[in-house]
Amino acid sequence: MCGIVGYIGKREAYPIILEGLKRLEYRGYDSAGIALYDGSDIKLSKTKGKVADLEAKAATEINTSGTLGIGHTRWATHGVPNDVNSHPHYSNSGNLVIIHNGIIENYESLKKELLKRGYTFESDTDTEVLINLIEDVKTNENVKTNENVKLGKAVQIALNQVVGAYAIAVFDKNKPNEIVVAKLGSPLAIGIGDEEFFIASDASPFLEYTKKAIYLEDEEMAIISRKKGIKIRKIKNDALVDPYIQELQINLEQIEKGGYEHFMLKEIHEQPNAIKDTYRGRLRAKEGIIKMSGIDDNLERILNANRIIVVACGTSWHAGLVSEYIFENLARIPVEVEYASEFRYRNPVITEQDVVIAISQSGETADTLAAIKLAKSKGAFVFGVCNVVGSTISRETHAGAYTHAGPEIGVASTKAFTTQITVLTLIALKLAKEKGTISNSQFHMHLQELELIPDKVKKALKSDSHIKMIADIYKDAKNCLYLGRGYNFPVALEGALKLKEISYIHAEGYPAAEMKHGPIALIDEQMPVFVIATKKGHYEKVVSNIQEIKSRSGKIIAIVTEGDEDVKYIADHVIEVPDTIESLTPLLTTIPLQLLSYHIAVMLDRNVDQPRNLAKSVTVE
Ligand code: G6P
Repeated sequence: MCGIVGYIGKREAYPIILEGLKRLEYRGYDSAGIALYDGSDIKLSKTKGKVADLEAKAATEINTSGTLGIGHTRWATHGVPNDVNSHPHYSNSGNLVIIHNGIIENYESLKKELLKRGYTFESDTDTEVLINLIEDVKTNENVKTNENVKLGKAVQIALNQVVGAYAIAVFDKNKPNEIVVAKLGSPLAIGIGDEEFFIASDASPFLEYTKKAIYLEDEEMAIISRKKGIKIRKIKNDALVDPYIQELQINLEQIEKGGYEHFMLKEIHEQPNAIKDTYRGRLRAKEGIIKMSGIDDNLERILNANRIIVVACGTSWHAGLVSEYIFENLARIPVEVEYASEFRYRNPVITEQDVVIAISQSGETADTLAAIKLAKSKGAFVFGVCNVVGSTISRETHAGAYTHAGPEIGVASTKAFTTQITVLTLIALKLAKEKGTISNSQFHMHLQELELIPDKVKKALKSDSHIKMIADIYKDAKNCLYLGRGYNFPVALEGALKLKEISYIHAEGYPAAEMKHGPIALIDEQMPVFVIATKKGHYEKVVSNIQEIKSRSGKIIAIVTEGDEDVKYIADHVIEVPDTIESLTPLLTTIPLQLLSYHIAVMLDRNVDQPRNLAKSVTVE
């Protein structure tokens, strides 16, 4: 986690870095810091808290002028969030300064060695160990070679002793015309302007300055020099790398709030278009065609799979669970859905006949990435479903499909979920057609229904004020239960997760029938139970479950199909969604649950876009 930003060029670095940090706060926001060089010395300011706290502190603490600088917004791994543990960190001499996103796993043994050699440490961080290791290497090499070893060389030698993940930026006050950056496991983009360079965890901090970017690959480092430009090398063998400069497709409006109070609300409302963008160019309902190059190019391999293993974390895992129902039902392919973090350490049975689908909004989640590497090492074919174009997972997989949802900035995932389901549905339908497990008429009907989903999501969004009223009634609940069956069981899990994440109310999602095996004991008049009871699937069974809750005085809020008359008489509240075919209901039933969590969190005065302790992109295990 953590966001890093850097600048070297002709402009004042401070405003660029500060604004960049604000855009990267989704990556972590428990502390922030900045180090600038003004032609004579390093000026450093850092604090526990958000970038806004840093802004207030830096204004009184340092002179913010300078055309070179680095900044950091943190999600703590080693050491509690406090001023001292915040980045940037100095080396003991005060000459070198570093920002770091990632974890140095062998930092304790490195620290022991450095302590023996007389180094001292102010913070509890692994990062302070790394900068002193770089300093130590530099000092030793200077003595060994009898000349002043370059910072890049020292960084390279030090990184070869490091185990873990990192995206770092380092500069030396005695060599203030360059910044050295390196990457392994955490993302790092370099924006290329006119005699100026930007460094960031993603391109958002420099979008208004340049659309040209280089994404460093793992185990690459770059020496970015004001005068000499960029030189990229392999950290392991020093080989020079030809920079691949990409033209970015995203624009500034996509990463701004556009009049909404929160990114989450904006992203909830973006879903009709996001879903459309996901199937645009892929789905041709009239012709009965689904075109997806990642599938088309590997059709044999995928069709011959013994089974599909889905690996993911968080909300993406819930989308994976929905896909289990879709793949098995439509394409008759056995599916296993695994938490990437469990899968990677479980010594799972993986064969060359398996197809692994890795789902990840960010394309950077460490556990998902590790699961992919494991699956690849066993010969499985790995297909990625990612949102962030060019992300590590999209590059590590054999083939894939982007969700094209646009940047998702709110930490609680919304449009990523519905667009992931859309992509997975397209894949399942395509495979079902190829395998002949779906009739022509069913296939056409699914395609036509999918094309209607954006308008139906729009309609579902219209219940917003009704949902707000319900939110007001239940905002003070201490516990909530979410129930669903079949395709809507994962939606119940996702609904509970959304509430937990942003309102801090304890919530549990359960398969409705499993309620009888435990959660029913929790039900009393204080317990709101959100039940997904749309007309398709196991409707009657769910209605029976609702009766069971009712007879124990639980409060029932039911998500029902438009026009439903039965549940209305039993439930305390109903929220209607348009009718659709069963496999597509998750795309609609999830909408009211997102809105409900959003409104409750706002009413409780929570930080909706940056809930406590969380981060959007989890690049640590
Ligand atoms: C974090 C985010 C979640 C997300 C999960 C997986 O926990 O807060 O919103 O679902 O990571 O992230 P990914 O980028 O792999 O989908």
